[in-house]
Amino acid sequence: MWRGLIEAYRERLPVTAATPVITLHEGNTPLVPAPALSARTGCDVYLKVEGANPTGSFKDRGMTVAVSKAVESGSKAIICASTGNTSASAAAYAARAGLTCAVLVPQGKIALGKLAQALVHGARLLQVSGNFDDCLNLASKLAQDYPVALVNSVNPDRLHGQKTAAFEIVEALGDAPDIHCLPVGNAGNISAYWMGYREDLAAGNATRTPKMYGFQASGAAPIVSGQVVAEPSTIATAIRIGNPASWTKALDARDSSGGLIDAVTDRAILAAYRLLARQVGVFVELGSAASVAGLLQAAEAGKVPPGSTVVCTVTGHGLKDPEWAISTAPAPTTIEVDVLAAARTLDLA
Ligand code: F0G
Repeated sequence: MWRGLIEAYRERLPVTAATPVITLHEGNTPLVPAPALSARTGCDVYLKVEGANPTGSFKDRGMTVAVSKAVESGSKAIICASTGNTSASAAAYAARAGLTCAVLVPQGKIALGKLAQALVHGARLLQVSGNFDDCLNLASKLAQDYPVALVNSVNPDRLHGQKTAAFEIVEALGDAPDIHCLPVGNAGNISAYWMGYREDLAAGNATRTPKMYGFQASGAAPIVSGQVVAEPSTIATAIRIGNPASWTKALDARDSSGGLIDAVTDRAILAAYRLLARQVGVFVELGSAASVAGLLQAAEAGKVPPGSTVVCTVTGHGLKDPEWAISTAPAPTTIEVDVLAAARTLDLA
């Protein structure tokens, strides 16, 4: 039986027998072949479906470790800044551990499902009239001056938890892929995967490391432009970040792996979101679709050799943002209780 990633990878994580394990049995997510993407690219493309985690995003991997360590060190409260998923995950793990949880989110800029999650799990939610970067500054200062543990990805325990996704991929494929594509926001996850792949190589579990391909939204692409973006803007609110905390680590992942970090337009993100839902059968949130938009863009630019094994992480579940899904799909038809009317509407008669 799967008992969560701390039990699965205990000896490769910063935990000891004394660490109380706070888990919702996160991890062990599916690696799903994506034939429609393989056909488009001439590669063998897989999706690491992180929406299958307990709160619907990859954040649970980091949160199980960060919250377990916080409890071990005697913390009674945790705090985070978030574009939505971190707050949902922190709220759930805090509830599980019996901790108080405070979350700071940019007002009006987080998806409805994520807001619902933070609230239902009982977090103290502060909507800040600023962007994510402002929220992270505030949260960091509060954690410095008050007795509350910061569980953003600047907390190294988070990255250790998140690196386990790379372990799972290597186990599933028998080796590392040639290329790994990820959306990039605060740049913690790309850094965590790179750590995981390097550790697998060092441990002899893999014979190589993949090229790390990271993708930012073009209105929020500080790593691509090399400049802080004061007012980041994109429909992909999860990655609407102008000054990533793990910027240097992401540059190292890019450069040491021979990879790239590029920008994808909102239009391309939306096209990938639709393609994933309609042709692959996987419903992800907009931010997650940036990895796939990036893969298609890189393939068109000749940066993805045909025949490569490629993994795209799709980081969060589509249900996080029901408003967006409904507003971009055709409206449903209303009919009377009438078989013929139903058949005609469905083009069956
Ligand atoms: N995809 C989703 C769905 C996310 O929620 C995030 C980050 C990312 C990708 C980017 O990952 O920051 O490690 O580069 N969400 C954070 C949050 C910022 O607050 O939930 P990253």
